[in-house]
Amino acid sequence: MNYVLNTTDDYHVNALETLGWELTVCNALEPPNSPCRGALRNPGTFGVQLFHFLKRFVPFSDLRTVLEVGGGLGYLMRDFLSLAPHLSASMLDISPYLLQKQKETLANRSVRFGRADFLTMSISDLKPFELVILNENLGDFPTLVTDRDARGDADAETRYWVDKINDIEEEFSLDLDDGESINIGALCIVEKLCGARIPYIYLSEHSCEASMQNPNFPRHHFQGSGKPEKIPLKGHTEYTVKFSHLVAIARAFRYKVIRGQYVDILPLALNDRVRTAMRSGAPLSDEQEILQQFIYDLYKYEYLVFISDSLKKG
Ligand SMILES: C[S@@+](CC[C@H](N)C(=O)[O-])C[C@H]1O[C@@H](n2cnc3c(N)ncnc32)[C@H](O)[C@@H]1O
Repeated sequence: MNYVLNTTDDYHVNALETLGWELTVCNALEPPNSPCRGALRNPGTFGVQLFHFLKRFVPFSDLRTVLEVGGGLGYLMRDFLSLAPHLSASMLDISPYLLQKQKETLANRSVRFGRADFLTMSISDLKPFELVILNENLGDFPTLVTDRDARGDADAETRYWVDKINDIEEEFSLDLDDGESINIGALCIVEKLCGARIPYIYLSEHSCEASMQNPNFPRHHFQGSGKPEKIPLKGHTEYTVKFSHLVAIARAFRYKVIRGQYVDILPLALNDRVRTAMRSGAPLSDEQEILQQFIYDLYKYEYLVFISDSLKKG
């Protein structure tokens, strides 16, 4: 199979000057008057709701160190530190613009900041962390996209990632080269995090395997294709992530795996606004359009929590 390499690092380093056009669920829930909050049973910010959800699996009071990679505007970490102020937090991001925003959001906290491509971070630098968070950004990492017309003489970077396919296939008995695009960056991230024996890992992203079959919203049912799907965005392109491959790698490292959709973290309120917005196929107002997109995202995003079986670092 021939591939072309999709990357977003040049965009994030040199072109990104706002996250507004790429409305993450975290940012959509930030304004107190966000219509998205009205669609939920608990109308809090994303970070607060995620923290309370993760408390079921993660003993925050026993943890000391947390790393967030690609923290966007810093809201998630702001909320985590307000609920667990004893945590020693580090933020790592490739984007100078967003790192500056994180510094502003977290100005009153004692937080370490680093600018780097997470793929270049060494396992030894990762080992001190007890919880690592990557929220809504796995799709930003390199994807090998199938392309019948791709030329055989790929550049060195593409060849580097294509070579990784064999390494990962052999090590984790995955069947990767079967004619679909490969989230090779996300796979290598999970391999790195598990290889560093991080006790608690939380990841989330648009999934190509998620579906929505809620009987209350029959006009909005969807089924993921099971293959990484293209998401064209301003200035760059991302791909949905094949979560079953990430799970297979974590299990090979003997991690306990918890997997689900955002709607588990952010349960929906079946109130009149939600029912009305979801009754019709096409939205009839701006608010209905926002709610339809938001509820789609609650099902399209999957999360993973990986818990090390030993909880002891080697
Ligand atoms: C879609 S935003 C998500 C932001 C935030 N986590 C949220 O949920 O709102 C992607 C984030 O990942 C960062 N990012 C993308 N590629 C990265 C890389 N290779 N290394 C570190 N951070 C990266 C971006 O700069 C940005 O902060």
